[in-house]
Amino acid sequence: MPDIQDNAHRYFATSVALVTTDGKSGKNVMAAEWAMQVSYEPMLIAIFIHDSPTLWNIKENGMFGVNIAADDQAEIVNIAGGYSGTEIAKLAIPQTFQTYAGKGVPMIKGCALACECKVMSVQEMGDHVMVVGEAISATFDEKKSPLIYTRGNYRKIGGKLASGRKTVRLSPKAFAEFKRMSGGQFVLKAAVAVVRDGRKTLFVRMESSSSWMLPAVVPERGTDYKKAVSLHLKSIGVQAQIEGIAGIERMMLKSGKQQSLRANFVVFSCTANAIKEDDDNNDNKKGWFLHPPRNLLLKSLLLFQKA
Ligand SMILES: Cc1cc2nc3c(=O)[nH]c(=O)nc-3n(C[C@H](O)[C@H](O)[C@H](O)COP(=O)(O)O)c2cc1C
Repeated sequence: MPDIQDNAHRYFATSVALVTTDGKSGKNVMAAEWAMQVSYEPMLIAIFIHDSPTLWNIKENGMFGVNIAADDQAEIVNIAGGYSGTEIAKLAIPQTFQTYAGKGVPMIKGCALACECKVMSVQEMGDHVMVVGEAISATFDEKKSPLIYTRGNYRKIGGKLASGRKTVRLSPKAFAEFKRMSGGQFVLKAAVAVVRDGRKTLFVRMESSSSWMLPAVVPERGTDYKKAVSLHLKSIGVQAQIEGIAGIERMMLKSGKQQSLRANFVVFSCTANAIKEDDDNNDNKKGWFLHPPRNLLLKSLLLFQKA
């Protein structure tokens, strides 16, 4: 038996679609919180609805409208969701739904997003029916915010959350090097090795600046970070055992007034196998330090080690 707490379903937070249809059951609108985009290309939208005039119309004419309600439309959402088309002609109630003609179904004015869909698949899914449609049009209103439905209440979207990234200021040279590492990606996603040999930690000089940094590599998208770290350490002549991920640090790297780069560093704890004599501080590119060079970037990345 599944172990499901009472009312667990109320703890999702969704937008609400006003699903519009036309057919023998008449022009109709229903509220559906289970409505979402499920593919970018083609743009596919799934709705999950029960056996009702909305479904009958959809099966009949193969079209439906997904009008994502704006946060000033809770009233009409209530009506669309509170009555069935078998009971009243909802769209004909005076001064309630403002409609315009779509390509095959009526559409609702004033919504945050409006998509017209051609049915691609209809499939029973538990006690509901999944209808997937391919969007043949999609328009949005920048000024409108979607209404949110959760725990049986309608809500407005709150403020935007702070990014939570730690701001780190860098010299122009060091910044340029991280920027180059990012390969033009919006976020630099790097793996960093904290290689320990007893109480000493390995640092490497950054290529274009003289700053010290922990050995870092940008793994190819979708590849194993641990393996990428292992290969990178080998490539700089370091034999080390990789223990595992110590933590992940999300930063906003900044330089000057204008330059900024989002950076995620996945920090791996590693133990050096054996340091060759000539590796020990001699080649000017690597250095084993008892006390790490001081800067906020390194301090943050090394913090995980203390736990
Ligand atoms: C906020 C809200 C969300 C709803 N979401 C869904 C849903 O995702 N799927 C569904 O089948 N019914 C949902 N309903 C219930 C239908 O909107 C309701 O049964 C409606 O009367 C169906 O319209 P119709 O019978 O005219 O087709 C929701 C109701 C409300 C108020």
